[in-house]
Amino acid sequence: MRAVVVDRWMEPPELAVREVPDPVIGPGMLRVTVRAAGCNFFDILMVKGQYQMRPPFPFVPGAELAGVVSEVGPDVTDFAPGDQVMASAGLGAFAEQAVVPARAAYRLPEGMSFEAGAAFPIVYPTSYAALVFRAPVKAGEWLLVHAAAGGVGIAAVQIGKALGARVIGTAGSADKLDVVRRVGADVAIDYRDGDWVERVKEATGGHGADVIYDSVGGEVTDASLKCIAWNGKLLVIGFASGRIPEVKLNRVLLKNISLVGLHWGAHAMHEPARIDETFRALFGLYAQGAVEPVIYRRYPLEQLPAALEALGSRRSYGKVVVAP
Ligand SMILES: NC(=O)c1ccc[n+]([C@@H]2O[C@H](COP(=O)([O-])OP(=O)(O)OC[C@H]3O[C@@H](n4cnc5c(N)ncnc54)[C@H](OP(=O)(O)O)[C@@H]3O)[C@@H](O)[C@H]2O)c1
Repeated sequence: MRAVVVDRWMEPPELAVREVPDPVIGPGMLRVTVRAAGCNFFDILMVKGQYQMRPPFPFVPGAELAGVVSEVGPDVTDFAPGDQVMASAGLGAFAEQAVVPARAAYRLPEGMSFEAGAAFPIVYPTSYAALVFRAPVKAGEWLLVHAAAGGVGIAAVQIGKALGARVIGTAGSADKLDVVRRVGADVAIDYRDGDWVERVKEATGGHGADVIYDSVGGEVTDASLKCIAWNGKLLVIGFASGRIPEVKLNRVLLKNISLVGLHWGAHAMHEPARIDETFRALFGLYAQGAVEPVIYRRYPLEQLPAALEALGSRRSYGKVVVAP
């Protein structure tokens, strides 16, 4: 099969498609013909050897996919060849075929494209778990979503609206602010403007944001604590800015603030029951039209370097996918 292979730490422009043996299927696994694979910022770090997980060489990167089951492991009873699925693959998605654990796969909901399926398994559960289990956000509350045109950001805006929150989305360009409005935010603010904190206060009538969904970190977190409401919650999702902020705890005390972390990937180890519950709830929201992945662009597998460049340069919005 054709696959992108990493056999030494490399820069994304060096990634190339090669002919390699088909992956071997075992118990509990599905072989999937990949129709689309989602790109994530950590793919860039992983191929460079800068991610917390450094797989042994050679490996095929790519953590999420959608496609058609072509073979099931001997003990797998809940899937059959021909099923259309999405899956969190961990590794191996940037290829024509992938072998994934059956417990990490879900049938594509009625009407969902392969591109949307490949864009779903990481960002939607992350935002759902943060907003429903960890915050939780209540109807009528002000939810401030940073980088609201990004992967987890769009998911957070859509889920926040579905929960009845009033949503303010921030983003860093006029195009992205259009996307933020299009996916349902009530207010869109360019957080490259020096006065975005004041604009959040104005939009909320001086109340501040009850819940802040922060996947950016750095200065954005520092400033967020100036426009968070009394009893507000800051959801710690990620550090796309590249800086892990340090929070002055007097601010936490003075405004009754909660700092709440969310690590979706660790649920498989600590709270596996939450995973099925989360996907089931999200598929319900999808069926109602409340959540819908936004695809920036679909690239051929050979153009994975260009796909990762669009993501890494902050040009893309929503999800970038590649298709073998
Ligand atoms: N906690 C979890 O379980 C979990 C799960 C998935 C992802 N994450 C993390 O969440 C973060 C966002 O992931 P994502 O998939 O949404 O990524 P993404 O689609 O690439 O979006 C990230 C957004 O962050 C903004 N940003 C601000 N400063 C940036 C900078 N210096 N470089 C690049 N982007 C910058 C950009 O929007 P603007 O241009 O509008 O500023 C960009 O669109 C990542 O750190 C990721 O590791 C965490």
